[in-house]
Amino acid sequence: MTLKIGFIGAGGIANWHLEHLSKIEGTKIVSLCDVNKKRVEAAAKKWNAKPYTDYERMLEEQELDALYICTPPFAHGNMEISATERGIHLFIEKPIGLSLKKAKEIEVAITKNKIVTSVGYQRRYEDIVDRICSILKENRAGLFMGYWMEGMPSVDWWRRKEKSGGQLIEQTTHIFDLARYLFGKVEKVFAVEKKGLMEDVKNYNIEDASCVTLVFESGLVGTICSACFLSCGEKVGMNIYFKDRVIQYDGGIKIIESNQQSKISSSVDAGLIEDQVFIEAVKTKDASRIRSTYSDALKTLALTLAADESMRTGRVVEIK
Ligand SMILES: NC(=O)c1ccc[n+]([C@@H]2O[C@H](COP(=O)([O-])OP(=O)(O)OC[C@H]3O[C@@H](n4cnc5c(N)ncnc54)[C@H](O)[C@@H]3O)[C@@H](O)[C@H]2O)c1
Repeated sequence: MTLKIGFIGAGGIANWHLEHLSKIEGTKIVSLCDVNKKRVEAAAKKWNAKPYTDYERMLEEQELDALYICTPPFAHGNMEISATERGIHLFIEKPIGLSLKKAKEIEVAITKNKIVTSVGYQRRYEDIVDRICSILKENRAGLFMGYWMEGMPSVDWWRRKEKSGGQLIEQTTHIFDLARYLFGKVEKVFAVEKKGLMEDVKNYNIEDASCVTLVFESGLVGTICSACFLSCGEKVGMNIYFKDRVIQYDGGIKIIESNQQSKISSSVDAGLIEDQVFIEAVKTKDASRIRSTYSDALKTLALTLAADESMRTGRVVEIK
């Protein structure tokens, strides 16, 4: 059985998934759509697919089994509804959008049309994250500190709040999602932001930095900090503190226990696994191995939107 696959968005992350799919048997890229004509024509040539600049036309003309939606956050919404109504299974890049109301509408359409979904939180498939999960089963964490410290990505849409949602919603969402995956339900958040440092960047209106305090239903507390002004010393990860050990997760994991340390690096390609699991789920209609479904990613969106609201209002925001 060969699945006919289409893409909306043919930029950076789309090409990452396209490379993975070229390694997965039983998949055929039939069409790609991007509003950037030059970009989509080049990608279509490379992947031997048909280019489109209008996704409605692509969905009408091609009988797709699965669709990868790899657009920036602001573009999500109607394309998901249109695809689900045609019974097309969906892989959607994070974040799933900027509007909770629209995402809930899409969730209803997904359920109604029995669509298999997967969202691009590939960290959930890392073997080192499995290792952290097994440590957490046996040991109670007392505190965690997540962080995403980087420079500003070059794509124009990223630096506009109305298009990307800002760093917390667009990028650090990976760490918020990981915190939910490891520690469970968040009860409330309080966040602060810093603006106006990147004077040399034209046309930007997002926060330069933010700090979010999270309180979980379990009683665990932690922080997630973001910065997008760095020109050196980039770092992404999370430290988890226990009574008798510390886990430092940042690509690999370092476990510090009294006077000994062990380092474990990942031995898997989590992005490839994420795509393999999605393709298998579409073929078998068994989604049990998918670690981030649309409904689950909606909870991560709700969490980051709540943190964003706290940043704007200066109030503690309860997660409903
Ligand atoms: N999972 C990950 O680790 C990861 C990594 C990078 C990016 N992403 C996510 O992937 C998404 C895209 O990021 P990117 O880096 O590929 O951006 P990009 O700018 O390189 O590519 C996005 C493409 O979407 C196209 N596009 C925009 N609106 C469209 C529309 N209405 N119809 C068709 N095409 C449209 C743009 O022209 C562009 O070519 C973002 O949400 C980002 O957060 C995820």
